[in-house]
Amino acid sequence: MNTLIIFGASGDLTSRKLIPSLYRLFVKGRLPQPFVIVGFSRTAKTDTEWQSELRATTKQFAAKSFDSSQWDKFAAMIHYHIGDIGSPESFTSLETRLRELESGESNRLYYLSTAPKFYEQTIQQLGKAGMATESPTDSATASRRVVIEKPFGIDLQSAQKLNESIHHVFTENQIYRIDHYLGKETVNNILVLRFANTIFEPIWNRNYIDHIQITANEEVTVGHRAAFYETAGVLRDMFQNHLLQILTFVTMEAPSRFDAKAVRDEKVKVLQAIRPMSPDQIQRDTLRGQYRSYRDEEGVAKGSRTATFAAMKLQIDNWRWKDVPIFLRSGKAMGCRTTQILVQFRRPPHSMFGADNAAHDANQLLLQIQPAEGIQIHFQTKVPDTEMRMRMTELKFSFQNSFSGEMPEAYERLLLDALQGDASLFARSDEVEAAWTIIDPIQTKWEQDKKDPELYETGSWGPPVSNDWIQKHERQWFDMCPLIGH
Ligand code: BG6
Repeated sequence: MNTLIIFGASGDLTSRKLIPSLYRLFVKGRLPQPFVIVGFSRTAKTDTEWQSELRATTKQFAAKSFDSSQWDKFAAMIHYHIGDIGSPESFTSLETRLRELESGESNRLYYLSTAPKFYEQTIQQLGKAGMATESPTDSATASRRVVIEKPFGIDLQSAQKLNESIHHVFTENQIYRIDHYLGKETVNNILVLRFANTIFEPIWNRNYIDHIQITANEEVTVGHRAAFYETAGVLRDMFQNHLLQILTFVTMEAPSRFDAKAVRDEKVKVLQAIRPMSPDQIQRDTLRGQYRSYRDEEGVAKGSRTATFAAMKLQIDNWRWKDVPIFLRSGKAMGCRTTQILVQFRRPPHSMFGADNAAHDANQLLLQIQPAEGIQIHFQTKVPDTEMRMRMTELKFSFQNSFSGEMPEAYERLLLDALQGDASLFARSDEVEAAWTIIDPIQTKWEQDKKDPELYETGSWGPPVSNDWIQKHERQWFDMCPLIGH
């Protein structure tokens, strides 16, 4: 049997993502049975009270698949345990409660969805209470795994310290550091596109690719998350994890197998090949912005220099990518929500069609991660009934048109993988540390500079200087909002 224990059960993530995802898995018949969910939190409430709270939130966040009779069956698995992370007794009583709920040995997945400052303490308490040890039984070993939410540290040093402390209690193969971007179907499809087709990989290198742009723009502002965001900023919130994870999928070498070691070895290699930036390079190759009304948000300091937008140019020092700039950018309060990867190919070396045509754009491959999940290839076509005029045209693929059903929530895939012991889509300790090694010097330099970020209007594509900045790098942003439903 399987038990999922959620620490920080009263939090937003539990009601918005975890429970709706578990519910959907249950409806699809994918949740291993028997299954028990135990929420752990300080707020006093009964099992029934928690179940009815979750019923309302699941009805809201999993509206399309909500069905009362299915919910009643699912809710029977949900339990609540009042406890305090600071108290060893709470863990002893949790263990007793779990033993009561579990019939015999059970595979346990501890989900840390608390505020990050409690990660270390929760792990220590689990260790002290003997709850982290995988106990061999006659037939099999009951697993003890732990899922750790982001942010994993706030810089390299804190991430190393956290890794060290967790490793006193859990071995690396019991640890699942989550990045929900890795659970997105379209992010996984990057691997399929590259490694399950013959036509892309041979041209996926410096000989054919001019540069790559990875954009993750959001329309939302920081809203009620100002307290968190003020200390994080866009680099810690989006770059260290989501953008660098996408970058690894786009640029890593082909793993020999789709398994946790092979995939993560390749990801680490490419992260480690990213050229460290000197302070001068940081000055030239990064850009920070802040939306104009950010300082008016509740909880934001009046003179706050927190970046809500950033762009950077990274270089990967290996044979495949030498001198191919990789541009990353992300911002809040932007004109449209879009996460996309643009692979910009080189121009043809020679145009037989004359000077005019030579100036035409080169091929582009656009991977739309969200919200208009799909792929477009841009290529030149002869305009009919003209001499040899050409125009950029596109081949389009959209998930919505090619597949039926709803796109699953990223957490469904990741929860199931963690329950089944597949860590391929979770970050390993060296991977998280390599990512901080890239972000840390930039964050530090920005803090030392004491410069105000460039302001931008809500609903724009970031600070106007962003266009000059990329032009200095002899490129242009691909600024196009995706057309949903096409
Ligand atoms: C989270 C960030 O990790 O990712 C948020 O903390 C951000 O600030 C969110 O809004 C974006 O996720 P998604 O899945 O909506 O692109």
